[in-house]
Amino acid sequence: MNNFIFQNSTKVFFGQGCVREYLACLIKGADTVLLAYGGGSIKSNGVYDEVTAILQRTGKRVLEFSGIMPNPTYEKVLEGAEICRRENVDMILAVGGGSVIDCCKAVSLAARYQGDIWEDFWMHPGVINFEPVPLGAIVTVAGTGSECNGGAVITNQKKKIKTGRDYPALNPAFALMDPAYTYSVPVKQMVSGGFDILSHIMETYFSLPDEDNVSDDIMEALMGSVIRNLRLALRNPRDYTARSNLMWDSTMAENRVIKMGKKCDFQCHNMEHQLGAYTDCNHGCGLAVLQPVYYRHIYMDGLSKFVKFAENVWKIPRRGRTDEEMALAGIDALEDFIRELGLPTTLKELGVEREQLREIACSCGISNGSYRRITHDEILDIFQECYE
Ligand code: NZQ
Ligand code: ZN
Repeated sequence: MNNFIFQNSTKVFFGQGCVREYLACLIKGADTVLLAYGGGSIKSNGVYDEVTAILQRTGKRVLEFSGIMPNPTYEKVLEGAEICRRENVDMILAVGGGSVIDCCKAVSLAARYQGDIWEDFWMHPGVINFEPVPLGAIVTVAGTGSECNGGAVITNQKKKIKTGRDYPALNPAFALMDPAYTYSVPVKQMVSGGFDILSHIMETYFSLPDEDNVSDDIMEALMGSVIRNLRLALRNPRDYTARSNLMWDSTMAENRVIKMGKKCDFQCHNMEHQLGAYTDCNHGCGLAVLQPVYYRHIYMDGLSKFVKFAENVWKIPRRGRTDEEMALAGIDALEDFIRELGLPTTLKELGVEREQLREIACSCGISNGSYRRITHDEILDIFQECYE
């Protein structure tokens, strides 16, 4: 295995009733809490009432920062930072999915920084040598795993760039994860979040090293779990076991455990983020369109891993197939699963215009961890192949 250092500073409280049981105690040290959330789902599913009742009982001063949109913008970050500074907020409580948690991580940094965080921490890697505003997360949808890492993906609409960085100093101090909170997630979002989990695992799995390593073994088990439990949750959205497994799969995929010793690809994420920057498309849906097409471009560069994927994840029998045939059968199985989930399979369905493809392709970052570094011309080929 490659050398690594592992740390994860987020304390996780997992299971039904965890918010009722632990929230009051976790915010003890704060005087003014900023309750941050998205477009209102927490008001219709009862989560807002549960959380605010607990906050009221603690007697804290509570302010609200709402309307955090999917694919959170830099402008929204600045709005939150301004509230934190003006009101002396000493804890942010993010209630939502990846968008709310990511936005709040960036707010926690911007609130305590005089310069331009976009330039100094997102366009270029920065050094956080000060204390961001402490952050806690209450997770309401499984997908990004943002609750247990320092990653924050932000969209700068003016510059047409959507990009993320992972700063350990931005890991939430705590994450409260009640799987029953995810019952109300619409099916479209549940499957797109589920596919995002699978993508995080695949984009780590399909990278060096290829020799025996524990990270790859964990990932095969996790991919099996995501596939199995997404099917169960589709059949019965209130299947607590399936929802719990998906919620923890999501954390396990992005809490850095499986990345240890791995190079990590994330080329599809680079491409999807730029599709998002130009069209505001749904993250998991964008990945579903790109992933099989991208893998058909690179499978020969990581052939032995693609064969393992077919054998160990999709349980495809050899039956005289060559390695190349096995690898392609695994990618076909992934594509069949995407269709089974009802996810989109073309960029046109995401609202991308054909005329935009070249400009978007040229704006994509190129990963250093892929089996093969692709070019902007090849990204354009991939976009064209999955356009319609
Ligand atoms: O805004 P509200 O009204 O709350 O509705 C949300 C939103 O419309 C809804 N939702 C969430 N919980 C719900 C619910 N609806 C009903 N019941 C509930 N319990 O779901 C919709 C999507 O929410 P969002 O937070 O946008 O989804 P997700 O968690 O997939 O986050 C996506 C964002 O995270 C970034 C993505 O690029 C995208 O910007 N990512 C963050 C990562 C990280 N920090 O590590 C890694 C990922 O690869 C990803 O890039
Ligand atoms: Zn993702």
